[in-house]
Amino acid sequence: MLGPVTISRPLLKGSRLARTSTLLRLLSSAPPSSPDSPTTTHFGSKTVPTTEKEKMVGHVFSSVASKYDIMNDVMSLGIHRLWKHHFINKLDPGMRRNSKQPLEFIDVAGGSGDIAFGILDYANEIHQDRVSKMDIVDINADMLKEGEKRAYELGRYYQDPRVRFMVQNGEKLEKIESNSKDIYTVSFGIRNFTNIQAGLNTAYRVLKPGGLFYCLEFSKIDNQLMDWGYQQWAKVLPVMGSVIADDFDSYQYLVESIERFPDQETFKSMIEKAGFKSVGYENLTSGVCAIHWGVKV
Ligand SMILES: C[S@@+](CC[C@H](N)C(=O)[O-])C[C@H]1O[C@@H](n2cnc3c(N)ncnc32)[C@H](O)[C@@H]1O
Repeated sequence: MLGPVTISRPLLKGSRLARTSTLLRLLSSAPPSSPDSPTTTHFGSKTVPTTEKEKMVGHVFSSVASKYDIMNDVMSLGIHRLWKHHFINKLDPGMRRNSKQPLEFIDVAGGSGDIAFGILDYANEIHQDRVSKMDIVDINADMLKEGEKRAYELGRYYQDPRVRFMVQNGEKLEKIESNSKDIYTVSFGIRNFTNIQAGLNTAYRVLKPGGLFYCLEFSKIDNQLMDWGYQQWAKVLPVMGSVIADDFDSYQYLVESIERFPDQETFKSMIEKAGFKSVGYENLTSGVCAIHWGVKV
């Protein structure tokens, strides 16, 4: 659990520069071998030592944490709010009236709190469920602090005994017991994992039998015109990142990480490989992103 939240935490330009130069140093030290060998992996379009990727992703999200809302709005032209709304509505989370057992939710890579708070709000408003519990886990303490700050500003879920903020790597979730969760969500997070299959296997491990895996992630566009528009947008995004957040590199990484993420069918087969049944997906905005799901039986 994190300690009390720091409400004002401006990113100093100097520290961002330091982080960027560390990032560039890490990149330049990467050996020129093929991606995804046992010792190397991809970081955006670059090949990097597997052991370094976690740190590099950490740099990106520490760098964008304080400008996270702007980043999302810029990256998705504001549409991420509609996608997240649809994701939660489709999931329809909340304890049913004929049940006495509160649900155990876990939102992985959930630093911003967007999905976790949305789920708890929905459960309250639609199912009058004010007892189910939520673990919000993220590998990055800066992102979790943004989530806590947001909870404080919302006036709910801050220092709420039902809600735990935990620094955890989604690939392992070491502090989460096996067979303990009813619903596992991950939104715009899993593409950043060093080992995505390990993340899916862990999702399977922590869910109870009957538990539901639900993932929202950028995906492959199935419409030529939309794809052309995306290619143009991807070229200008790092420049916009530079202007809006003084951070070219992080936005460049985010574009490249979207391009590297497996297509819908490949990701579906990875979810099946983890052991999930009734696996499926729904494309949103012509596949700009997709909701993937599976059930642990
Ligand atoms: C684009 S943000 C998404 C945040 C939130 N889920 C949302 O939809 O607004 C991606 C998040 O993934 C987190 N992340 C990246 N790698 C992770 C890992 N291996 N385990 C847990 N979280 C991770 C980052 O720290 C960051 O907070």
